[in-house]
Amino acid sequence: MKKSLTKRYIRHFAAKRPRMAQVTNLMRYLFFSNFKSSLVNIKRFKPVHSGIIITQKCNLKCEFCVYGIPDRDLQSKAEVTMEEFKEMIHHPLFRGSIKFALHGGEPLLHKHFFDFVDISSNLRFFTTTTTNGVLIDAFLKDIVRSPLNSITVSLYDSHLPRQLENLEKLLRERDKARLAVNITRIVNNADFLDMERFIKLGIELRVDGLMFQNTLPYKTKKDVCIFDDNSEYIEFSGALREKYKDRLDVTFPILCSRSDKNRKCRQPMELISVNHRGEISPCCKMVFYSKSKYGNLSNENAWNNSNYRHLRSTLLDNNFDLVGDCECCYFLSNNIYGLR
Ligand SMILES: C[S@@+](CC[C@H](N)C(=O)[O-])C[C@H]1O[C@@H](n2cnc3c(N)ncnc32)[C@H](O)[C@@H]1O
Ligand code: SF4
Ligand code: SF4
Repeated sequence: MKKSLTKRYIRHFAAKRPRMAQVTNLMRYLFFSNFKSSLVNIKRFKPVHSGIIITQKCNLKCEFCVYGIPDRDLQSKAEVTMEEFKEMIHHPLFRGSIKFALHGGEPLLHKHFFDFVDISSNLRFFTTTTTNGVLIDAFLKDIVRSPLNSITVSLYDSHLPRQLENLEKLLRERDKARLAVNITRIVNNADFLDMERFIKLGIELRVDGLMFQNTLPYKTKKDVCIFDDNSEYIEFSGALREKYKDRLDVTFPILCSRSDKNRKCRQPMELISVNHRGEISPCCKMVFYSKSKYGNLSNENAWNNSNYRHLRSTLLDNNFDLVGDCECCYFLSNNIYGLR
């Protein structure tokens, strides 16, 4: 197991004493994922990370985001109900997960957000969310009282003053809340020189970590992404890493590879997210739009339908053509959550 991941899991388990089913599932995953034959039609273990897209509503309209682009269909803004949430989180596919994420849209807009955190926490999931932070002040007391383990605030220039004000309020309460407070910033090939500003901000605010996310071209042009042959980026980020290595836990953007032959992505073997209809997304890139292609929690062979098995095969064997969903995805050549 990678050292940084070992550390992360020790942290998760220290924060939330795991259930036996979670430990057993992790052990089974670690053992059986050694064998490619166990990784296509997965019978021996269940996802180690899971999440539910609790709402598609959002209070912002970021132009790079699938929810930020005015779109009639998405504007219908579906949400999970309390009954749906309870049913989903108790599904056998979720049982062995260590980490559970409440995804949005803007998760804090859901009226049951804190009830969902309680339910997840009672099931001993290390519970996380990512928010634009605009509503943190409105819910500060609830956040501090809730058993949420980690909150990540995405920083956007158009709302930065309010976000920073809210972050400061939250960070003043962080110890009381025993909550990890991280920030994230989406970057692209035209604005990565701005990364230092956010590293300095993170240090000044004393956040627990800063994660830069490369831009996934949802509806924008492919070349917004930072590629692994961008020498200016490589030189610049190398200098930043050196300069700030002892001052803040910074995760630099994962670079997109020009080659599609280096296939390390293992997300469809390790995690699931589901939407309000129980439709399964197999990875971070498809979390918001995979619809029913990869099956539904209600299917008997959920997590193993034919599209799923094909997707996994293409990631394990270069001789297959990649599925269209994986094109221009910077996660392809990386095993980011990967325990192996
Ligand atoms: C979709 S948002 C939902 C949560 C919340 N509304 C927020 O903005 O943090 C989750 C994360 O996805 C990131 N994101 C949105 N569009 C993206 C894109 N095209 N490429 C990479 N990350 C993206 C956001 O910056 C955010 O950190
Ligand atoms: S990135 Fe987050 S805040 Fe921005 S539009 Fe998308 S869901 Fe909303
Ligand atoms: S390569 Fe990207 S799109 Fe394909 S499964 Fe991995 S994360 Fe998803």
